[in-house]
Amino acid sequence: MNSQRREEIFEQAKIWVEEAGNIIEERINDELVIDTKTHANDLVTEMDKDIELFFANKIKEKYPTHLLLGEEGYGDDVQTLEGTIWIIDPIDGTKNFVHQKKNFAISVGIFHEGVGEIGFIYNVMADVLYSAKRNEGAYKNNVRMKPLNKEVNFEEAIFAFKHDLLCKSKDFDAELIEDFVNEIRGARYGGAAALEIAQVAEGIVDGYISKRLSPWDVAAGIVIMNEVGGIVNRSNSDSVNMLEKGTIVACNEVLSEKIFKYLKNWNRQEHSIKG
Ligand code: 2AM
Ligand code: CA
Repeated sequence: MNSQRREEIFEQAKIWVEEAGNIIEERINDELVIDTKTHANDLVTEMDKDIELFFANKIKEKYPTHLLLGEEGYGDDVQTLEGTIWIIDPIDGTKNFVHQKKNFAISVGIFHEGVGEIGFIYNVMADVLYSAKRNEGAYKNNVRMKPLNKEVNFEEAIFAFKHDLLCKSKDFDAELIEDFVNEIRGARYGGAAALEIAQVAEGIVDGYISKRLSPWDVAAGIVIMNEVGGIVNRSNSDSVNMLEKGTIVACNEVLSEKIFKYLKNWNRQEHSIKG
């Protein structure tokens, strides 16, 4: 994608992300219509669906050749990474949205021929927009984000984990995870993958590890992390295939060698959970 085209799509996407944020903000105190998906704790609200539909309609109208890969099923049946694909989570952190009415984000990653070109992570209620264009840097609102080249010791690092990493699980070795938690300075769990990756990009959290994330949880974060020189990989240090679910490790490069060494020990089996 040439830079002029990227710029044009970026500006349009930014307008839609802000409009979608306004819709959520206006309705934030309305009574929620909550449903469950795969299990009782897998929540979805009318808002998740409405916001994805908002993007689906806008994209179809303005960019009829583009595809949408979205969490709520209003997008296309995307089987390859050919062409331009909008990878959208209308609300990342739905449980936070339901319980806290904050600490959730709209996540929009735009990929062209498999390459991440544009990313937006919008923390709606805090009105903080992280954005990035490939090769043109990442921004937190209007301030350019700094490269992640700070020397961080493992012992001084703060990591965010999805809680199931800490529980007994057939994929990970609980004792080794305990060692890891004891070795680092602190562990956190925020409940919205996109926002946690944004915090790693910002340098206020040193790493984020989560199992079974979907493309829409990570697409925008990957574009933003690329622009600050951060790493986003699978736990075996493979790069992320945007058509598959899997474990995600996002971190400062200076920590990556040690993390991946740890993860090699953690993994009892590598997992490329499709679909
Ligand atoms: P979601 O809010 O869009 O569902 C919670 O730790 C983070 O993991 C959220 O970003 C959540 O996204 C994501 N996630 C992905 N798959 C999930 C699942 N099956 N159950 C709960 N959270 C999931
Ligand atoms: Ca979601």
